[in-house]
Amino acid sequence: MNLILLGPPGAGKGSQAKSLAIRYGIPQVSTGDILRAAVRDKTGLGVKAKSYMDRGALVPDNLVVEIVAERLKKDDCESGFILDGFPRTIMQAEAVGAMLGALGKKIDRVINLEVAHKEIVKRLSGRRVCRNCGEGYHIIFNPPVDDKKCDKCKGELYQRDDDKEDTIEARLKVYEEQTAPLVDFYKKKGSLVTIDGIGGFQEITEKIVNAVKGK
Ligand code: AP5
Repeated sequence: MNLILLGPPGAGKGSQAKSLAIRYGIPQVSTGDILRAAVRDKTGLGVKAKSYMDRGALVPDNLVVEIVAERLKKDDCESGFILDGFPRTIMQAEAVGAMLGALGKKIDRVINLEVAHKEIVKRLSGRRVCRNCGEGYHIIFNPPVDDKKCDKCKGELYQRDDDKEDTIEARLKVYEEQTAPLVDFYKKKGSLVTIDGIGGFQEITEKIVNAVKGK
């Protein structure tokens, strides 16, 4: 099963993808996570990507498409994957379609998580992430026991640089201009299901699972 989680920053793509990956036994492929690791490790890719990410802009298509092409070739993607944060432009969507087509595969379902602007700002400004294991929290909606430490591994919790209010606004603008057109793109292909991303975490997971089953 090959899934795409689509939606604006803070829609819950990453949190849902983690949970669905466990449920279905297929990997979450998050371009954001891959790029942040590259920035942290100061690799060639990280050095190129950092300035775009810091200002909330998209990293150039050619770089991101190459990352995904390499990742999808790995054995653990053989029985399926969940793309989180990719594609984000029509060019990326066409590239992944062609990539999968060449392997005799396709995207089975595109889940479009809808969340209003005001809620997104609340979600992103309160997000905290574990520096060690990547576990995500929210200071109000999903608070850790100790506000500085991860419940799971006791790693340090931090706020992403692009979760500051000015950058959030820039990311939302970029989403509207460059990523929102993918809703129509996948609607025309018949693979898109739109889900209200506001509500309890489990409730949203169940809606996604039903959409995947075609219910
Ligand atoms: P990326 O890491 O992909 O960021 P994003 O798409 O902006 O998405 P987020 O991670 O901010 O949000 P999310 O939807 O995953 O929400 P989450 O589950 O964390 O990309 C970062 C940057 O990398 C981009 O700006 C770009 O520069 C670059 N990049 C990445 N991919 C690229 C690509 N394909 N092309 C070009 N550039 C690319 O949830 C958010 C918060 O809400 C959390 O605190 C969570 O606890 C909380 N929450 C989740 N669900 C709920 C709920 N139901 N109720 C209440 N709170 C909730």
